[in-house]
Amino acid sequence: MSPLPEPPGVRARPLCRPEEIPPGATASFPAAEEGARGLFAVHHFREGIMIYVNACPHLGVPLDWLPGQFLTVDGTRIMCATHGAEFRIVDGFCVHGPCRGDALTKVQCTIEGGMIMVPVDAGRINT
Ligand code: FES
Repeated sequence: MSPLPEPPGVRARPLCRPEEIPPGATASFPAAEEGARGLFAVHHFREGIMIYVNACPHLGVPLDWLPGQFLTVDGTRIMCATHGAEFRIVDGFCVHGPCRGDALTKVQCTIEGGMIMVPVDAGRINT
């Protein structure tokens, strides 16, 4: 008899140590598996570290305008490099651009053993 499949989201994937993303900084992480999307982190000065799937709700493409760079010049919003949509850092809500009113996909994270952990299926397409 084969074991039951593990429910999605039970296992966790380590991204990095929180201190590797100082306040105001961003970081990108590769897809966990083939066919999945990458993730990115933003460290908001007051709210802490937010993790999002690196896919614009407009066309599904990665947002970074340089590898690991996601913020507007003034550092107050996340910006998509393709058509300039702007998103609030704290919740990923789009406030400007072609996908205004839509939102980035936020990923729940925890700190375990000194590492930022996300569900192993975060970024998987069609989940
Ligand atoms: S692909 Fe992001 S705004 Fe168009």
